[in-house]
Amino acid sequence: MSLVPRLQSELAQFRRDGVYKELLYLDSPQAPRVRMEGRGEVIVLSSNNYLGLCDTLEVVSAGKAALDRFGAGTASVRFICGTFTVHRKLEAACARLVGTPAALSFVSCWNANEAVPGCLLGEEDIILSDQFNHASIIDGLRLAKAITRCQTAVYKHADLTDLEEKLRAAKDRRTRMVITDGVFSMEGSIAPLPDLAALCRRHDAVLVVDDSHSTGVLGRTGRGTAEHFGMVGQVDIITSTLGKALGGAAGGFVAADEAVCDYLTQRARPQLFSNALPPTVAASALASIEYLEQHPERVDTLRQNSSYFREQLLAAGFKPLAGETPIIPVILGETAKAIEMSRQLLDEGLFVTGFGFPVVPQGQARIRCQISAAHTRDDLDEALAAMKKVGRRLGLV
Ligand SMILES: Cc1ncc(COP(=O)(O)O)c(C=O)c1O
Repeated sequence: MSLVPRLQSELAQFRRDGVYKELLYLDSPQAPRVRMEGRGEVIVLSSNNYLGLCDTLEVVSAGKAALDRFGAGTASVRFICGTFTVHRKLEAACARLVGTPAALSFVSCWNANEAVPGCLLGEEDIILSDQFNHASIIDGLRLAKAITRCQTAVYKHADLTDLEEKLRAAKDRRTRMVITDGVFSMEGSIAPLPDLAALCRRHDAVLVVDDSHSTGVLGRTGRGTAEHFGMVGQVDIITSTLGKALGGAAGGFVAADEAVCDYLTQRARPQLFSNALPPTVAASALASIEYLEQHPERVDTLRQNSSYFREQLLAAGFKPLAGETPIIPVILGETAKAIEMSRQLLDEGLFVTGFGFPVVPQGQARIRCQISAAHTRDDLDEALAAMKKVGRRLGLV
């Protein structure tokens, strides 16, 4: 069968299985309430706009000013046609925020997660990855294995015993690298960083933490998983995104020792063969970090909003996964059920996405509520009312 008819037939099957993803179009900035085409105003409980910075004046104005000052694009890769000064400032701010000597920006954290193992490891090395790590880490490992012939291994989710066994078995490798999400995006759980760091120290392993859902979210001032555990400066390599709490535009970074960032500048393929972040985006991300530094109380509001929503869900009879992050999943079982709940919630004016296999394990489909510091109590109460109404209809509460 030729390509297009085969794809059409598979797409039709997705629809029959109830797992086809409909794209919903927005006609306003990402915010607690958005204008959705064909729906009007809906409350959003499905974005990574954790600090509500997507439409914050300082962040948007910085992007506009950078457009005037630096123009629209970068026109080539950094080492060929120049690096904008705003990239240097952004990278200094990223390093300052997460507490490392240096940082290097990428067009996405996906790229950063591909760059780290693929560039820093070689044939004599091994990387060990948590079973529940993000897709970009999984693909980063696959790519590294193909490019560098390094060994790869997966340890059971947050299981230090399994990891230790695998580290022991890898004692003859030149470099042992352990990589974990800081906050697991489908669970809302936090990696056991103190134990992981101690284990890595004992086995002379490099610890890499992807803080995409933790930067701006965890710790008293939003510096991430390390701050949450009082361990700023103790993680070897941090990757993170500029597309979630930090303004929500786009981009990612690797934060680490200067030599690590310098080596990535010299050798990482996404740096060498792909344009840098547009300066407008770099300027907005920089303004987001500066805003966060000046307004740490936003992180506190995020925490209060998240606790409130979690408590109210429990009081209404839902059984969200336990946790202390703004990611609050409610497990429903089958994928079609999660998609159906999401559809019914949207009919009630609440935008919450349902996730099923293969994004989450078979039989553990869920809707995932994500809270923002910008949600008002009214937003959250209206969202809860919709959850209760649909939950009762579906026999969940
Ligand atoms: C844990 C994690 N890492 C990396 C990424 C990719 O980030 P970006 O959108 O910057 O490529 C995501 C995005 O969903 C993520 O959740």
